[in-house]
Amino acid sequence: MSGGYENRSNKDATITNTVGKGEFDPHPGTGHPMDTAEAFLVGDSMTGGYGKGPDILHDCTLSVNPGEIAVIVGPNGAGKSTAMKAVFGMLDLRQGSVRLDGEDITNLSPQDRVVRGMGFVPQNNNIFTSLTVEENLEMGAFIRRDDFRETLAQIYDLFPILKDKRRQAAGELSGGQRQQVAVGRALMTQPKVLMLDEPTAGVSPIVMDELFDRIIEVSRTGIPILMVEQNARQALEIADRGYVLVQGANAYTGTGKQLLADPDVRKSFLGG
Ligand SMILES: Nc1ncnc2c1ncn2[C@@H]1O[C@H](COP(=O)(O)OP(=O)(O)O)[C@@H](O)[C@H]1O
Ligand SMILES: [Mg+2]
Repeated sequence: MSGGYENRSNKDATITNTVGKGEFDPHPGTGHPMDTAEAFLVGDSMTGGYGKGPDILHDCTLSVNPGEIAVIVGPNGAGKSTAMKAVFGMLDLRQGSVRLDGEDITNLSPQDRVVRGMGFVPQNNNIFTSLTVEENLEMGAFIRRDDFRETLAQIYDLFPILKDKRRQAAGELSGGQRQQVAVGRALMTQPKVLMLDEPTAGVSPIVMDELFDRIIEVSRTGIPILMVEQNARQALEIADRGYVLVQGANAYTGTGKQLLADPDVRKSFLGG
């Protein structure tokens, strides 16, 4: 981590609708599920797949609290994106539930979940390439009836390069800058929770560190972050909660530190 976030100016927590700091006390060891029932966002025992196809998720549980970064890792095809889509309401669950701030939202549409405070940055096609950076951000504010100029200013404060490039087509930006647009777009709704599917996909290690710093900065404003990452080791280093998914199921769960120290996790998922 380059640690540059300490020097950034965006200390204004009004970018989020925070609900206060969560306390989190995991079970010892990584083979046990973590406390989820009371968490701010919970995808609880989710089972389901796409349409009439086979189940992809099998009793999969994910959760995150304010002030925390929860990281989902696992092999390609493990169902990480599917689990995120399930939490966002893009999948019909056969079993299980999704709860946000104590409310059961299992049957809400994705749009209604956005209104309730979910910000989601999908893995693919997460910006409008032909629109300008600023138009992308403005699109993000589609549910808002109030003046979103202040939020826009906060996002430019968080991602200064986006302000410089605000009149440029988003499609002309680098991979890391596009991801900033995507995250910024999600923040425009002032979400209560932010879900990111591989925010550092295809970027250099330096840009990855940059993005992680910005994600930590958002997290420090109190907004819970649930994210999928393929850079497992680096992501677990910043994770308050870590989930290793294998074949649609929870294989290992613990704090990032616990998972990084677990010999089985190291051997199978972190390259030793
Ligand atoms: N839209 C879809 N329709 C049907 N099956 C899908 C769809 N998206 C993903 N899958 C299947 O779901 C499984 C998990 O995929 P995915 O959630 O994308 O994994 P990951 O994100 O962990 O790489 C894979 O077998 C994949 O082929
Ligand atoms: Mg994926």
